[in-house]
Amino acid sequence: MIGVIGGTGLRKIDGLTIVREEIVDTPYGKPSDKIIIGKLGNHEVAFLARHGEGHTIPPHLINYRANIFSLRALGVRAILAVAAVGSILEELRPGCIVLPHQIVDYTYGREHTFFDGINNPVSHIDFTNPYSSKLRNLLCENTSLEGINFIKEGIYAAVQGPRLETAAEIDRYEKDGATIVGMTGMPETALAKELGLSYAAICPVANFAAGRGSSKDGITHEEINKKSELMALNVSEYLKVVIEAYGS
Ligand code: HPA
Repeated sequence: MIGVIGGTGLRKIDGLTIVREEIVDTPYGKPSDKIIIGKLGNHEVAFLARHGEGHTIPPHLINYRANIFSLRALGVRAILAVAAVGSILEELRPGCIVLPHQIVDYTYGREHTFFDGINNPVSHIDFTNPYSSKLRNLLCENTSLEGINFIKEGIYAAVQGPRLETAAEIDRYEKDGATIVGMTGMPETALAKELGLSYAAICPVANFAAGRGSSKDGITHEEINKKSELMALNVSEYLKVVIEAYGS
């Protein structure tokens, strides 16, 4: 079964017919919310709202281990992770969807591994290519939806939040090669890889990052929420096409 983790703006998938809801517990605690199992076209999908019901969990307090563990426990083997981002580059305008291929991780203090030497023996996964190439190919091959501008590569700067960045921090991330910035990509991506799941990210661009474009003089979280919600229909439509192509 394929899983979808919804971020800011995507509290549900439009068109998903709900079959049942699962409340799951894990050795790592509870996931962000109940997991909704539904049908999108002919395909079963498990949906989890990353920030919980009513968007109450900030990025640094999300129980990423419980989220990934519980999806796997329900039979999920591939995850499409939707995560709103800010754009670092002029050409990545709010409204487009970036399909990142790389990550630079600036987060700290998060429970970021299953292989902690307590619950599981120490192990060092390969993370050269953080996302599943098979899932990324699927995403990149299904980008002909009218009215949506897809960018098939991106370097995701994963930041701690919950505050937004300073303009100088964004300059630093750009020097490091990053093209988009968000708060939830890590450790989620690495945890999925530790459990052997295929995982790829869909990043709707909600705003220009701090100090860039229309965010030159500042930026509000309300603007980010509003744009993310406006993009939810496009994202749902895209998920439908991709999941149809993925099969079961
Ligand atoms: N910075 C960090 N996270 C974000 C942003 C941003 O500008 N926009 C959406 N998520």
